[in-house]
Amino acid sequence: MIQLFHVSVSYPGDPPVLTDVSARIDKGELVFLTGPSGAGKTTLLRLVFGQLLATAGQVLVAGQNVARLKRRDLAQLRRRVGVVFQDFKLLPTRTVFDNVALPLAVLGTEAAVVARKVGALLRYVGLAGKAEALPLRLSGGEQQRVAIARALAGDPAILLADEPTGNLDQERADEILDLLTQVHARGTTVVVATHDRRVLEQFAQRVLILDRGRLSADGVLER
Ligand SMILES: Nc1ncnc2c1ncn2[C@@H]1O[C@H](COP(=O)(O)OP(=O)(O)OP(=O)(O)O)[C@@H](O)[C@H]1O
Ligand SMILES: [Mg+2]
Repeated sequence: MIQLFHVSVSYPGDPPVLTDVSARIDKGELVFLTGPSGAGKTTLLRLVFGQLLATAGQVLVAGQNVARLKRRDLAQLRRRVGVVFQDFKLLPTRTVFDNVALPLAVLGTEAAVVARKVGALLRYVGLAGKAEALPLRLSGGEQQRVAIARALAGDPAILLADEPTGNLDQERADEILDLLTQVHARGTTVVVATHDRRVLEQFAQRVLILDRGRLSADGVLER
């Protein structure tokens, strides 16, 4: 589903951000990506949805080389990849409903279908009562759930979540993790970037560890 072959990323004048990273994530896996701040976690996720191109090596998503995709195919790929950004990127002047509906509106989905689907997604993430609220009136955990609902709106095959428990207390963090686990259980490939040790210890799951841009470990953490 996701394959990285000897991937490096560098910005001119700076030391490389990723160096010779190779990894394969299969369809239906739940994988955690960890490592200290600045290790390259967000950068790696950006490669997977084609927001950034590797300086060297190849990134394949669903068998397609991301660097070779034409604009239309890249748009198609992005529809198959839902992203929950580290800073949510919710539109502050739009309601919760509109934020979640956005990916569907872009696809030209009929209004009645959008309403039904967004309603179902908001119930799924436990925000049925907040459809008309503005994002900034919500708590951090609620905003995180809006971002997850939006990422799921296009029925993605892959969900990427960048520090989804970042600023949440333990209880809210657990709720978000439950939600991501449920998404995985439905068959979605889920990649979660986190430096929250507790999250990693809670799950006997595959963990990729980045250290200053290099993949330093890939396996199930000992508990
Ligand atoms: N547009 C850019 N130009 C130059 N350097 C960048 C750019 N984006 C990221 N970097 C550098 O790449 C490195 C990795 O950043 P990245 O955001 O991938 O780290 P991260 O592991 O997600 O960190 P965090 O845990 O803080 O989110 C950092 O040193 C950062 O300064
Ligand atoms: Mg990051």
